[in-house]
Amino acid sequence: MPTSSAEAAGPRGQRAHLRLVEVAAGYGAAPVIQDVSITVALGEVVAVIGPNGAGKSTLLKAVLGILRPSQGTITLAGEQITGLPANKVSRRGVGYVPQVKDVFEPLTVRENLEIGGYALPRGEVAARIDEVMERYPALAAMRNRPAGYLSGGERKLLAMGGSSCAGPACWCSTSRPPASRRSSPTSC
Ligand SMILES: Nc1ncnc2c1ncn2[C@@H]1O[C@H](COP(=O)(O)OP(=O)(O)OP(=O)(O)O)[C@@H](O)[C@H]1O
Ligand SMILES: [Mg+2]
Repeated sequence: MPTSSAEAAGPRGQRAHLRLVEVAAGYGAAPVIQDVSITVALGEVVAVIGPNGAGKSTLLKAVLGILRPSQGTITLAGEQITGLPANKVSRRGVGYVPQVKDVFEPLTVRENLEIGGYALPRGEVAARIDEVMERYPALAAMRNRPAGYLSGGERKLLAMGGSSCAGPACWCSTSRPPASRRSSPTSC
């Protein structure tokens, strides 16, 4: 995977929120990605572009704690998250929209959003779902439909809505965010 240079801040001088320094990760002895350094500032959107199999999803899995980096460091708001398990990275405010297996097909749209908010205090989940449905009215119209019956685009919208339910400060997606989400928190 191509390497980018590490910067201490975003292109307009903003403070780094998510910072990867010389990260390597993979699934066996040979790393799929190596020497990857990226800085994402608050409010900044960073796209990682590359051909199929280049290692884009592998990079996000290393950030999310799904894969443990074999080298390098990852910090969020100045704190080390390198090698933390995914549940702890998620609770620190990193949202993730997987490329595949992104929704629970037998569950309804609303039930999927409830799962997205599982880490929130119980009393906050309904209000957060209302906010997400207000932001994505298409989801409100389909709230009782099983996720397995959605179109590809509707399904991706639900996956993004579910991730939004947790109110992430940093958002990692394998797809282009929908229009209403493009001015979101930090994304990569
Ligand atoms: N669980 C796994 N075990 C072993 N190898 C894997 C695994 N997942 C992915 N790979 C391999 O790692 C490499 C990088 O895969 P990755 O999914 O990161 O690519 P990508 O850039 O996201 O591709 P795409 O654009 O097709 O989504 C590929 O060669 C892929 O076959
Ligand atoms: Mg991928």
